[in-house]
Amino acid sequence: PEIRREDYRPFPWMVPETRLEFDLGLESTRVRSRLTVARNAKADASPTIRLNGDGLVPTSVKVDGEPTRAYTMDGDDLVLTLPGEAHEIAIETEIDPSSNTQLMGLYASNGMLCTQCESEGFRRITFFPDRPDVLSTFTVRMSGARDQFPILLCNGNRTDEGEEGDTHWAEWHDPWPKPSYLFALVAGDLVARSDSFTTMNGREVELNVWVRDGDLPRTEHAMESLKRSMKWDEEAFGREYDLDLFNIVAVSDFNMGAMENKGLNVFNTKYVLADPETATDGDFDAVEGVIGHEYFHNWSGNRITCRDWFQLSLKEGFTVLRDQLFSQDMGSEPVKRIEDVRILRLAQFPEDSGPLAHPIRPDSYREISNFYTATVYNKGAEVIRMMRTMAGEEAFRKGTDLYFDRHDGEAATCEDFVRSIEDGAGLDLEQFRLWYSQAGTPKVSVELTHEGNEAVLKLRQTVPPTPGQPDKKPMPIPLKLALFDQQSASHSGEQLVVLDTESAEHRFDGFANKPVLSINRGFSAPVTINRAIDREDLVFLAASDDDPFARYEAMQDLMVRHLVAGVGGKLSEEERSRGGQSIAQAMGAILADPDIDDLMRGELMSMPSQTYIAEQMELSDPGLIHAERERLKSLIGSQLSEQLHRLYERAEQVPFSLDAEAKGARKLKTMVLAYAAASDPEKAAELAAHQYDRADNMTDRQGALMVLTGLEGVERTNKLLDFYNRYEGNALVIDKWFALQASSLHPQVVEHVKALADHPDFTLRNPNRVRSLYMAFAGNPQGFHAASGEGYKMIGDLILELDPINAQTAARFVPPLGRWRKVEPQRAALMREQLERIAKAEKLSRDTYEQVSRSLAD
Ligand code: ARG
Ligand code: ZN
Repeated sequence: PEIRREDYRPFPWMVPETRLEFDLGLESTRVRSRLTVARNAKADASPTIRLNGDGLVPTSVKVDGEPTRAYTMDGDDLVLTLPGEAHEIAIETEIDPSSNTQLMGLYASNGMLCTQCESEGFRRITFFPDRPDVLSTFTVRMSGARDQFPILLCNGNRTDEGEEGDTHWAEWHDPWPKPSYLFALVAGDLVARSDSFTTMNGREVELNVWVRDGDLPRTEHAMESLKRSMKWDEEAFGREYDLDLFNIVAVSDFNMGAMENKGLNVFNTKYVLADPETATDGDFDAVEGVIGHEYFHNWSGNRITCRDWFQLSLKEGFTVLRDQLFSQDMGSEPVKRIEDVRILRLAQFPEDSGPLAHPIRPDSYREISNFYTATVYNKGAEVIRMMRTMAGEEAFRKGTDLYFDRHDGEAATCEDFVRSIEDGAGLDLEQFRLWYSQAGTPKVSVELTHEGNEAVLKLRQTVPPTPGQPDKKPMPIPLKLALFDQQSASHSGEQLVVLDTESAEHRFDGFANKPVLSINRGFSAPVTINRAIDREDLVFLAASDDDPFARYEAMQDLMVRHLVAGVGGKLSEEERSRGGQSIAQAMGAILADPDIDDLMRGELMSMPSQTYIAEQMELSDPGLIHAERERLKSLIGSQLSEQLHRLYERAEQVPFSLDAEAKGARKLKTMVLAYAAASDPEKAAELAAHQYDRADNMTDRQGALMVLTGLEGVERTNKLLDFYNRYEGNALVIDKWFALQASSLHPQVVEHVKALADHPDFTLRNPNRVRSLYMAFAGNPQGFHAASGEGYKMIGDLILELDPINAQTAARFVPPLGRWRKVEPQRAALMREQLERIAKAEKLSRDTYEQVSRSLAD
């Protein structure tokens, strides 16, 4: 059944107090709950109360202390008829964490017990109104074997503890009312890195990062990131932490990145553990970003939560924006912006143009887990960023201050957020609300002409139809722009133009010569720009724009145009080589530019992804795109060979550190190897093997191995073997070993992945391992889109096998197949065939069923 946003009704009961008692055991955990319930005056009265369950059997039910059988089971839910105003409901259940392979609710991981409750996992632990608008104060007592579970953690503060023979117990109390999805419990043999933070009003907060013994040396970066997050949120948003204790726990079996449970964040180990020997620069950045993200949820998510799951972007979009701004402030602002736009284009644009397109605030769903998407998260962040751009930073802060003030302690809606920004920042966002209700990436066509002393800018927008939304209204699109004088390579100031009609014309006076237009600077709007601009002007912008993002964009545009034309058969050999040479020339200027740092240089040098190129076409042929892209890579590599190798030699001299200069040098080295691999594979293999051998950090080692993995030859085999032996037993690094091979450019990648699926270290029970092999593969056009259809079949097989084990993770492999309508007919038919095969399976989870049926619907 579909759940619809418009059907929202407040819950008829309030649950002011929740008491839970856990007798912990890996195979059997007994849960006793006592809920005080009282009628909700703000809701329609109901004679019954519905407590959600999922696979639970009640072993005892009491109302006001009296055992009762006067309840019914409605599907998985327990329904009680309650007269009067207020009661106490006590229920006992027994669960088996060790058999919980879905990793939702209470489950066992590596001998420890932990929970994941968002969105609807709490109902797998005990019967409860498992919806985010029911806030309750939780008191928890847990007991278990002391040697098996020496550490017992829960939300809030520990209020008591004790021992009885071999068991021990702890009592925890969380003073902040919260919905059930923010509940967490952890029990296991853990050790902590401890530290403290003093808040702006002098509260002393104890901080702990809990990991398994042996992982402690890899927690320093997480702890430092946490302290930086706490400080930053005080300064940037005026938000202070509100408990005396903040715990982070790292868990190796986890469906997502991490979870913001009140006072007890649970993390995928991938986003906690990092040291230079085992983590890349990218991993370090990701740890910092996710630590920040979860910490920032304490206000945007926990203090103010969501009324219902349709409002998910209220907390996720806003929190992603907050973590992006945090990372921008901690490192390079333009580089972070480019990375975030790249993720948006890689993950969100395809979503928005395919069968699973949905607005950032969806209207209906079957399984909410399917809506933890790049649209809700990343486009959600872009939408709030646009408000910030239109308001200006200061006014935007007034808006968020008002939001936090007005809705603290509430379960709020996206509408509440927009209204707060309107009132606080003094903006009119009436039409802007369309960004919450309309799906699809707007396309803006841009043309600049010159008449007399005037530059005339013509803008036109279209918002493409998406499933269930055939007709769209024009949206307000904030475009930052600048008009450059060619001669002086300067402009007289950036302007903001908001395109809020289907088409518009803007005139700019005082230009004797036609200026060069730089538009959507900083990626001020999440749209596709189609600009009528000469190649020479793009070359000019790539070399001279003072907005780093716009420079990057000009380079990307130059390459995308060339590649799209090439794939479309519109280039003669002559044109292809002339076009390629002019791109190489533009890139040569970037290599030589002394005014840019190496991190930025690395961005400017990177080629558009195959996915992004495919997005520019009605129908894509992955084989042709790959070939064309490799051809350009090879041309650039040979054209700039000398310069690239000089760059490499310079970068090689930079000693290891985690500062921006050294990170930039490492990025360049691997970039050079990648170009060399396309133009001079033998030389590349030699250089890469050398880089691998002398590497004193994971970034260099992984980069070298990545390049070698795509090449033929003995070094490939040797280094893959060395890497495995060197890091055997370190799960996160072995994940890299799987992922490198699954994402490689090697022509036999399909065979490699088949063999890896039978490797003793491969298991479907661990989501990180599954993703490292198969998500990498599904994102590798060489493998996934093999013309034989074998890649599609492998993903089809995986979905069917994984679905009963971990439905949430299985469903995440459907979208790659769901893109069939955008692929050339032969492959499209093979992709569709897999979707139909899955749809016919006897027993499918709600998760996978929803994704497959939406992917096939017309
Ligand atoms: N709220 C978490 C975060 O954004 C993600 C939780 C995902 N849970 C899920 N069932 N999909 O960090
Ligand atoms: Zn989040």
